[in-house]
Amino acid sequence: MKKIIIAVDGYSSCGKSTMAKQLAKEIGYIYVDSGAMYRAVTLLALRAKLFSTDGKIQEKQLKALLPKMQISFKYNAETGMPNTYLNNENVEKEIRTMVVSSHVSPIAVLSEVRAALVAQQQQMGKEKGIIMDGRDIGTTVFPNAEMKVFVTASPEIRAQRRFDELKSNGQNASFDDVLKNVENRDYIDSHREISPLRQASDAVVLDNSHLTREEQLNWLLNLYHQRTTE
Ligand code: DC
Repeated sequence: MKKIIIAVDGYSSCGKSTMAKQLAKEIGYIYVDSGAMYRAVTLLALRAKLFSTDGKIQEKQLKALLPKMQISFKYNAETGMPNTYLNNENVEKEIRTMVVSSHVSPIAVLSEVRAALVAQQQQMGKEKGIIMDGRDIGTTVFPNAEMKVFVTASPEIRAQRRFDELKSNGQNASFDDVLKNVENRDYIDSHREISPLRQASDAVVLDNSHLTREEQLNWLLNLYHQRTTE
């Protein structure tokens, strides 16, 4: 069967990564969570204390760190899922905290950061047989991807999912704060100047507000079979 590139874009916390991982496992593709890469850069910036108290970023210093930064993914045999590594340190858990979530949007608007990460992502897709999820995968990273999915669900449902995820990781957060964070990131993601979140003209929309994981996987597999036999 021909190998393709699958781009999954959509709003934050709408289950993109869960569905992309599921599909990757099913069809034996590599899965790449591009959001984890923006989160890893954010963690790097937080650790280097590059955020001032007013939320501004010391861009020059961050830019200097980018060429030395290494982001990679390694399979975790225990969980059966890929883990994100920053300079060879497993940062999977740390990049999912609320501190990182609330600082990632201003990092993701920086042109130097986007250029560095997009180049790495395009390199990862050279051999095809890859599923990548994010905000600009079908529009900027892989505009020629053979299969593009644009995922959406209501903000409340997405906040509830994120809230449950944080709780199951033992982190305290209020539902209202999580909802505010989701709405705020939606706004910033879709209004930024470079590569704003938008549906590619050839993407297929999937609203998963009321779909079970199984229904969602079947929907994706159908589309995948169509695209690989076209
Ligand atoms: O998917 P996520 O919530 O883990 O993504 C974290 C942040 O990174 C999100 O607020 C938007 C940004 N992002 C982006 O700008 N472009 C991508 N391709 C992926 C994520």
